[in-house]
Amino acid sequence: MLYKKDFPIFKNNKQMVYLDSAATSQKPQVVVDAVNDFYTKNNSNIHRGLYDLAQRAEDLYEGTRKKVAEFINADSKNEIIFTGNTTESINLVTLRYFEKVLKKGDIVVISEMEHHSNIVPWLRLKEKLDIKIYYIPVTKDFLLDFDKLLKAGLDFKKVKLISLTHASNVLGTINPLEEIIPKLKSKFPNAKVLIDAAQSIPHIKVDVVNLQCDFLAFSSHKMFGPSGLGVLWAKTKLLNDMDPLFLGGHMIETVTKQKATFASSPQKFEAGTGKLEAVVGLGAAIDYINSLNIKNVQKYEDKLTKYALSKLPKIKNVQFYGSLSPKYRLPVFSFNIGSVHPHDASEILNRKQISVRAGHHCNQVLMEILNSPSGTIRASLSIYNTIDDIDKLIEGINMVKKIFKN
Ligand code: ALA
Repeated sequence: MLYKKDFPIFKNNKQMVYLDSAATSQKPQVVVDAVNDFYTKNNSNIHRGLYDLAQRAEDLYEGTRKKVAEFINADSKNEIIFTGNTTESINLVTLRYFEKVLKKGDIVVISEMEHHSNIVPWLRLKEKLDIKIYYIPVTKDFLLDFDKLLKAGLDFKKVKLISLTHASNVLGTINPLEEIIPKLKSKFPNAKVLIDAAQSIPHIKVDVVNLQCDFLAFSSHKMFGPSGLGVLWAKTKLLNDMDPLFLGGHMIETVTKQKATFASSPQKFEAGTGKLEAVVGLGAAIDYINSLNIKNVQKYEDKLTKYALSKLPKIKNVQFYGSLSPKYRLPVFSFNIGSVHPHDASEILNRKQISVRAGHHCNQVLMEILNSPSGTIRASLSIYNTIDDIDKLIEGINMVKKIFKN
């Protein structure tokens, strides 16, 4: 109950066991209040009006940009671009940076545990520019095999991007990027590094200086903030090299009948009216995480992880997909129950008010590696979950086994 009481959805759904936080997190009351307060006390457009209300709205919006910058240890708030979600952030980088700099034969390194949002944009560039994609393999222990990449004999000059997830939304693996990126950068000195932090950011410290990355993408809705809002961080120099994707209001410096010049970052990437209340809500979500201290979050979640790992993989006829070691791991657990289709299992669990995700989780490449074409059942936990929730999941799994005689 330590954190659960902060989340009003559980007061309104008393029996619910919510195990789908990797899809989206629930929202604490402080975030709901911040969005409500914005509309009831401070709503106005920003960067346009000169009246007090507009100034208050703008202060809240730009204040969040500063909070995000501090949260991820960015140099400047001007390096924070608000987008629609992680997918949009990665697409912006693909279309406005890498489409410009990649040449035929260049190599983009990704991994077999990437979400489609970090595969499909590169596949399009492969078609368009005739680049090559190298996938870092997943080991039998569900970790990334960085040694294989280092020994793959790739033409080091041609590797122009290494784009990796910080944590897998299926396996729960946290990739040890702070250790490995310096090695990768020294082996592939021409490579930029992009990190998809969508899954890691609500659980562990994400620090762009320690990560030594060039681009970072994540979403508000997975870190207790409102949906419809993503963040792209990039180094100033790289943002200066990127053209805007959308053109129109707010992103210009001057417009004449024949020519437009663009504002600098972040404005040039935020055409039109932004997601005002979502940004303000994200500010409240960051305050909330800071008030808890991410280290305490991690400690609490590690307890949940250890407990789940001591039980779930041991259930007879459960195929468990993920590292059995609690080190470098999120409380995200993928599994199958005998020969039961994950959708059927999920429906039975739903009868006990247990919400899990079932299917390929936007990771069809990984599903192939796992030899699990129908996908998996995924239970993903957050700070509002308890040991009791894990026990209820186990009861639910046993019920599925009984019904399907597996
Ligand atoms: N990427 C989200 C998930 O893993 C939607 O469920």
